[in-house]
Amino acid sequence: MATGMDELDRVLAGGIVPGSVTLVGGEPGIGKSTLVLQALAAMARAGARMLLVSAEESPRQVRLRAERLGALGPGLWLVAETSLPGVLAAVEEIRPDVVAVDSIQTLVDPDIGSGPGSVNQVRECAQRLVRAAKTAPAGADGVHHGPAVLVVGHVTKDGSLAGPRVLEHVVDTVLSFEGERHHALRLLRATKHRFGSTGELGLFEMTGSGLIGVADPSGLLLGDRRPGLAGGVVVPAMEGQRPLLVEVQALVTPTALAMPRRSAQGLDSGRLALLLAVLHRRVGLSMARADVFASAVGGVRLTEPASDLAVALAVASAASQVVLPADMVVCGEVGLGGEIRQAAQVRRRLDEAARLGFTHAMVPRSSPDGPSGLELIRVATLAQAADILGLCLPGRPWPSFDTVET
Ligand code: TYD
Ligand code: MG
Repeated sequence: MATGMDELDRVLAGGIVPGSVTLVGGEPGIGKSTLVLQALAAMARAGARMLLVSAEESPRQVRLRAERLGALGPGLWLVAETSLPGVLAAVEEIRPDVVAVDSIQTLVDPDIGSGPGSVNQVRECAQRLVRAAKTAPAGADGVHHGPAVLVVGHVTKDGSLAGPRVLEHVVDTVLSFEGERHHALRLLRATKHRFGSTGELGLFEMTGSGLIGVADPSGLLLGDRRPGLAGGVVVPAMEGQRPLLVEVQALVTPTALAMPRRSAQGLDSGRLALLLAVLHRRVGLSMARADVFASAVGGVRLTEPASDLAVALAVASAASQVVLPADMVVCGEVGLGGEIRQAAQVRRRLDEAARLGFTHAMVPRSSPDGPSGLELIRVATLAQAADILGLCLPGRPWPSFDTVET
């Protein structure tokens, strides 16, 4: 059953499977309720029967949001209910094609002693919902009529809220809704999917009128870029199967601190430390007396090693105040020896860079050819990359150049 929200359908490999159970997890405030409401509204508009169980917000609150999102319609039912038997009764009465429970942490089964949100409650409520979805009797036509179930679950980075983790093996599909709360970009991925691959990424922008699918995320991410500044470089990253151009920025400032600051936003801090060590020992660019701030712009998290070279060059550019070419993308993993290693799916990354008008790409030595119009600069080591870009200028007062080991 296609939801009609393209980015959601992409992640679900087509839509919601009848009788399936899907967990929608994410941090509080990220937009789970909005996503679920919009998905139900879209399916209701297509003629299906939808039931939204609000166990967190009052009917008035949900209705106001639905009005704002243009989600009201005859096929979409709402019940405010926190008790599991009440939910099952509503399902029995309305016989929806899809029932969404928002959230599993506020639902209680009175037969279970423990309080709402406890591991026991979450697990038991989910299991009973799953049973309801899977065991509904076939109708006169012999077709299974149990509803598909969507379960919303709050997750926190430190895992302090019970729930989603204990449910992952109970459900068919686990969707994770992510993003930085202060940025508009939202990323949706399937971390488990019984009916399709988990490599797809869905992208939304949170706007004043709800979530809008983002067809051209690279364009959105690079929209506010200021070329001509030292410390900025663009990396063609892969998010699952999807190429995404992301700007990496670094700022390097002199420090008097004995333990200089290292700050990584949207980047792995351990990886940043490693790259600083490689810059020091293999390129001769020491940050020992500098605070280093590095970030992936736009609320994206760059976790793949293929963004190493971009991070290292952004830092080197910031330190030397040498501006990197604005029409160049950079990708490759940096090894401890300072060697640049191959990244996966280079061609797809380069195609995306070419599509957005980039004319140069710095890539590992063994990279396959890129699309026409994109000139490749092949590099074997980080030192060579820094040299080609004019980042190593001994004699400059800043930064200090310590011993070079190559
Ligand atoms: P919500 O869906 O309630 O998040 P969750 O269920 O994951 O806790 O949405 C949270 C935020 O999204 C809220 O702070 C307001 C914002 N928002 C918008 O910016 N535009 C909208 O149209 C809606 C409905 C919410
Ligand atoms: Mg919510």
